Amino acid sequence: MSAGHADTRQDDERPDHDLVGIGFGPANLALAIAIGEHNSHCGRARTLRTAFIERQREFGWHQGMLLAGATMQVSFLKDLATMRDPGSRFTFLRYLHEQGRLADFINQKSFFPTRIEFHDYLRWCAGMVDEQVHYGREAHAVRPSLPNGPVDSLEVLTRPAGGAPSEDRVLRTRNVVLGTGLRPRIPEGISTGPRVWHNRDLLFRARTLTHRPHRRFAVVGAGQSAAETAEFLHREFPDSEVCAVFTRYGYSPADDSPFANRIFDPAAVDDFYTAPEEIKQSLLDYHGNTNYSVVDPDLIRRLYETVYQEKLAGTERLRMLNTTALHGVEALSEGVRVVLRRLLTPETHTLDCDAVVLATGYQPADPRELLGPLADECLTDGQGRLRIDRDHRIATTPRIRSGIYVQGAATQHSHGITSSLLSTLAVRAGELCDSLLLDLAERTDSQDDGLVRDGDLSLRA
Ligand code: FDA
Repeated sequence: MSAGHADTRQDDERPDHDLVGIGFGPANLALAIAIGEHNSHCGRARTLRTAFIERQREFGWHQGMLLAGATMQVSFLKDLATMRDPGSRFTFLRYLHEQGRLADFINQKSFFPTRIEFHDYLRWCAGMVDEQVHYGREAHAVRPSLPNGPVDSLEVLTRPAGGAPSEDRVLRTRNVVLGTGLRPRIPEGISTGPRVWHNRDLLFRARTLTHRPHRRFAVVGAGQSAAETAEFLHREFPDSEVCAVFTRYGYSPADDSPFANRIFDPAAVDDFYTAPEEIKQSLLDYHGNTNYSVVDPDLIRRLYETVYQEKLAGTERLRMLNTTALHGVEALSEGVRVVLRRLLTPETHTLDCDAVVLATGYQPADPRELLGPLADECLTDGQGRLRIDRDHRIATTPRIRSGIYVQGAATQHSHGITSSLLSTLAVRAGELCDSLLLDLAERTDSQDDGLVRDGDLSLRA
């Protein structure tokens, strides 16, 4: 299909797809599963035809942080299907059963699998819906099929990751869902490079670091990823010092106590969505310590024991540089010089390192970047943030009759703290599937083709 607009085209045929999903992380994978399960139970007229675009060559979930022993921060029961349908064939328990590890897993008496095992589960799920996914392609724009008049279908432009415009392909669809996840947050004035990494790339970079003249690493940050990175480097490079650099006095524990954990329940999304703006903000502030800049208490204990034992033995290798800020980074002919500023005594000092790891968090990708001029037709609230309906559809001008849905951290201001996490993915996928089916029903009704009757619509598989 051509990448240009044809003004004379009619936009009244059903496009090739009912939904194109951009990004194929756990969020859109859960959606592909929910839709696949719906499709397998419904008649042909109610089948949703989908395609997903993923820039990675195969399914992968934060692979640079699949550290040995690192565990999930969420119960295995919050997998891609159980909370929507415990009888689904995509549950973590079903996966364990098929792998022959169900009894062994139960004997561990833990709700928290390792990330490596959960990644294997996600890949197992992805393998069962492979036919819906275009791997190794990046979506770089979404535009209306027709430049003027009512918009009933959209075009998603895709290109092989790192490819040329001549390799563009266009997918025509009734709706899109953006599930593009998070992108690394890099401190202002710092650039990543061969010896300055964001922790997203930790495993890949650490494997290729052969020349290490300084026998020292710096890890910047005080959240879960920073603590995991410090522990990993300390374990994997036993001849090296690891300096954890953060502005706090110490790591703070993540609150995963049962009442606080309710903030991640599906019902909490309804509560949050309907709350007044100032209550939303205070809920985010109260419960930020369930997720942001906090560390699993067991990991804090392990790191503290290491620091203490090394002090006892006079072999201090894991150093906590607290109340210390990263001031700058300078490339050396061999290695990297990290400039640090003590907050208590405003003095700077330097550390020559083999690498510095920025475990400085993530930020959501702004969905508007992919939408180009379409973004001007998306409605915003008083703070310039996207207005997002309860069914995760971006509110638009009436001209845009196609649905532009968004999943993930970009909906935190409207749907709450669980938006960027796995906790409600299964239920959210069911909600999105319902919304798409309602849209399909309305269109087929309005075309009066007799396919959908009142009370005849089973919305969820
Ligand atoms: P995610 O980022 O996983 O996927 C987005 C996908 O979109 C990526 O595969 C990317 O390649 C693709 N993409 C982006 N732009 C594209 C484009 N233009 N074209 C094509 N493809 C594109 N949460 C939790 O609840 N429990 C946990 O234990 C953890 N653990 C955890 C560990 C680590 C190391 C991190 C970084 C994060 C977590 N999280 C977590 C939070 C995490 O956000 C969550 O687990 C999921 O990854 C969210 O899934 P998404 O699909 O929304 O995004």
